[in-house]
Amino acid sequence: MFKKLFLTITIFFVLGLTIQATQGKVPLKFYDFEGKEKVLSFENLIKISGVKEVTVMNPATLSIENYKAINLRTIFNVLYPNKSWQKGFGIKVLTKDKYEPLVEMYKFKEREPFLAYERVDGKPFKSYAKDKKKLVNLGPYYLVWIEDYKNKNAARRRHHWPYQVVSFSLEKNPPVKLIPNKDKNSSEYWGYKNYIKQCFMCHQAYGIGGESNGEIISNGLTKKYSDKKLALYIGNPTSVIKDSKMAEFPLRIDLRIKRIKDIVAYLRYLEKNNPHKAKTKRKYKAQEIDELLEELN
Ligand code: HEC
Repeated sequence: MFKKLFLTITIFFVLGLTIQATQGKVPLKFYDFEGKEKVLSFENLIKISGVKEVTVMNPATLSIENYKAINLRTIFNVLYPNKSWQKGFGIKVLTKDKYEPLVEMYKFKEREPFLAYERVDGKPFKSYAKDKKKLVNLGPYYLVWIEDYKNKNAARRRHHWPYQVVSFSLEKNPPVKLIPNKDKNSSEYWGYKNYIKQCFMCHQAYGIGGESNGEIISNGLTKKYSDKKLALYIGNPTSVIKDSKMAEFPLRIDLRIKRIKDIVAYLRYLEKNNPHKAKTKRKYKAQEIDELLEELN
C-alpha cells in the first residue's frame, strides 16, 4: 500500500520535473507565404542559431531583463534562403492564448528580433507583461528585441513583445479585405491603419483577425454603443466595463484622441460593409499594396 503510494508520488515528481525542464523547449512551427508548415525542434533551433544571451528592456515595466535566446533572423534565413522571407507585409506571431499580433516586416529586417526561452539567472521563465499587474508565464518562447536607441530604432509597441509564442506565419499582404474603399485622408482610412496596429491582434471583424477575444462587428458588440461611449471604452475600458480586461489604448502616443475617433469611424464603416459580401470584389493591384505597405510603415 505504502509502496504503491510512494511509487505514484515519485512518478508525479519525476513527471513534474520533466515538464518543468522542458518548458520553453518545445518545437516551433513556421508557415511560409503559401501556408506550408515547417517544424524545428528546440535542439535544431539552437544548432542553427547558437545560444545568445540578450539584455532587453521589458516595455511593460521598463526594467532590464537577461535572457537566453535564439536569433530569429538567422532561423528565417536558413528556413527561407535568399532572404525570401522578407518579401511580404509582415509576420504574424501566434501565441498559446490566440493573441495574434501582426508585426510589419521592416521591423524584422531593421531591428534585432530574438526568441527568449530561459532567464539567464535560472529563475522561473516569468515576467510582468501588458498591464504590469500580473506575473505571466513567458514560455515556450518570448519575442524580444535588442534596441538601438542611438538610431531611434526602439521597438516600444507592446504588440511587438508577445509571450507564449508557438509559431510564426509569413504574411504576403496586409489584411486587404478590411481596407476601406475610401480616400486615403478619410477618417475611416486612418482608423483602419490604427485598428491594424492596436486592435487586430485581439479581435476579429467578420472572422478576420486575432482570436483571443473574438468577433466585435458581426455580433453587434460595437453597434450597441454610441460613438462617444465607444471612444471612451477604447481610451479607458474600465470606465465603461468595470472589470474590463481589455488593454487601454496606448497612453503615450501622439494624436491619441484623433486616433481613437478614427477607429470609431472605421468600426462604423465595418458595421455597414461586410468584406465577404462586397458587391464589387475589389482586387488590389500590386502597386496599391506597395503604397499601402509604405504608408503603414
Ligand atoms: C490585448 C487584447 C485586446 C486588444 C488589443 C483590444 N481588445 Fe477589445 N476586448 C478585449 C477583451 C478582453 C474584451 C472583453 C471585454 C472587456 O474585458 O472589456 C474586449 C472587448 C471589446 C469590445 C466589446 C465590448 C463589450 O461591450 O462587450 C469592443 C467593441 C472592443 N473590445 C473593441 C476594441 C478596439 C476598437 C480595440 C483597438 C483600439 C481593441 N478592442 C483592442 C481585449 C482586447
